[in-house]
Amino acid sequence: MSNFESVSTVLKTYDQQHIIQFWDKLDDNEREQLLEDIQNVNIPEVVDMFKKTIKDINADKQKLDDKMKSIPSELYGSVSRSPTELLNSYKEIGLQNISKGKVGVLLMAGGQGTRLGVSYPKGMYDIGLPSHKSLYRIQGERIRRLINLAQQKYGSCKGLPWFIMTSEHTMEPTREYFAKYNHFGLNEKDIIFFEQYMLPAFTFDGKIIMESTHKISKSPDGNGGIYKALRDRNILNEIKKRDVMYLHAHSVDNILVKVADPTFIGYCISKSADCGAKVVKKAYPSEPLGVICEVDGKFQVVEYSEITESTSEKQNSDGSLTYSAGNICNHFFTTNFLNDVINKYSNKLKLHVAKKKILCVDSEGNDCKPEKPNGIKIEKFIFDVFEFSNRLAVWEVNRDEEFSALKNGDTPGGKDNPSTSRLDVFKLHRKFIEKAGGKFIRDNIECEISPLLSYEGEDLERFVKGKMYDTVLELKSDEEISLNNCNKN
Ligand code: UD1
Repeated sequence: MSNFESVSTVLKTYDQQHIIQFWDKLDDNEREQLLEDIQNVNIPEVVDMFKKTIKDINADKQKLDDKMKSIPSELYGSVSRSPTELLNSYKEIGLQNISKGKVGVLLMAGGQGTRLGVSYPKGMYDIGLPSHKSLYRIQGERIRRLINLAQQKYGSCKGLPWFIMTSEHTMEPTREYFAKYNHFGLNEKDIIFFEQYMLPAFTFDGKIIMESTHKISKSPDGNGGIYKALRDRNILNEIKKRDVMYLHAHSVDNILVKVADPTFIGYCISKSADCGAKVVKKAYPSEPLGVICEVDGKFQVVEYSEITESTSEKQNSDGSLTYSAGNICNHFFTTNFLNDVINKYSNKLKLHVAKKKILCVDSEGNDCKPEKPNGIKIEKFIFDVFEFSNRLAVWEVNRDEEFSALKNGDTPGGKDNPSTSRLDVFKLHRKFIEKAGGKFIRDNIECEISPLLSYEGEDLERFVKGKMYDTVLELKSDEEISLNNCNKN
């Protein structure tokens, strides 16, 4: 049987023959592309996924809301409620494990950055800091600084591997970007890229949507696709081979992210947690943050898009939000837990559906831009494994020190955009400088500290103590200063 015949038999079995309806009009190249596209999709599996999710499309949100219970804040740890000695002891545990090479970073960078409106990977975005460093660069330099701190404290560091999940859209530009910037001074062998899988979009009646006459409409399978990718791209084995025991997983779009945060890692280890989540207090009811709560006796994240407005607005008697433990897409996993999830539970992960306006072709093969949702996208979420955890550690951090999300393009008065991200960096870094004995003549002075100099405000006294700043302050490492001088000469 030819390739075309075998493909066409599968499509017929699963009622998807429309995928090849324009076959006679396609040239050889287009036919080849279409066949490849179809063969890259596991048709029986995705049609089965559609059937599982279709029930949820019109499900009543109220049902989930009725089952939600808030988690009393005493049940989780918090930076602001912990004494300094305890925080230092957590940090020490984390840093010691980093020095022994037991910690790895899992970066989720496969999203399409649709809301930000850029066509390149979000990690390459420059929010307009004085240094013009991108998100990727800042995160890479924070890893370098931690390696340095571990070396200073424990005499050596076996490495802090960085596992970066990309997708079809972000893989090549990300790799090229890292190579162009010399992997930000990190050891190339400790940066491992891998690609998540894609899922086709469906019409409401279960037909795979065609983006063009010879291309299936596909998008990344959600950040929960990380489990399948870790297994099928052989990354879990690589993690085990390197003897990494703890992973810090986070989103690409938080400018303040403490990559491989030793305090969080130490907290989770000391609680014997197999899995952990950082949260911040939700700022306002409609803030687009998932919330950690209890459903059917288990901790879980309920996504902002999956509850009703009235639930998100619920208040306690003191006026605080009932569901206030805002998820910041910042998680801890032991390698053993990941191994269990991947081998025992990955087929049990929930499938989330979102109705979307999906570009498609009509029955004549003409491009269509729908004005209302015409289909669904299916996604898995990273936090849906919490229900399989034996011990989940929740750690509340201070928003001004650890969370400022970059989701949207700049608009006047807008939220979570490049301007708000930039201002949050300036504010935090001014606080670091002031704590180290420096002063600012005004409180709106732009201030940026290189991650190569300081991870979270440490070691700054020797540069700033007793100094008064009246204009933009960019504190750079010696390496950056000499590189700048070389570039000038
Ligand atoms: C995410 C969280 C939400 C949290 C919020 C905080 C999930 C499912 N939701 O929401 O609970 O309150 O961040 O900012 O985690 N990504 C991939 N592959 C994909 C899709 C996304 O790698 O297929 C990555 C993105 O690149 C990003 C991260 O996952 O780094 C979060 O994705 P995004 O779509 O921005 O999630 P939010 O809706 O903001």
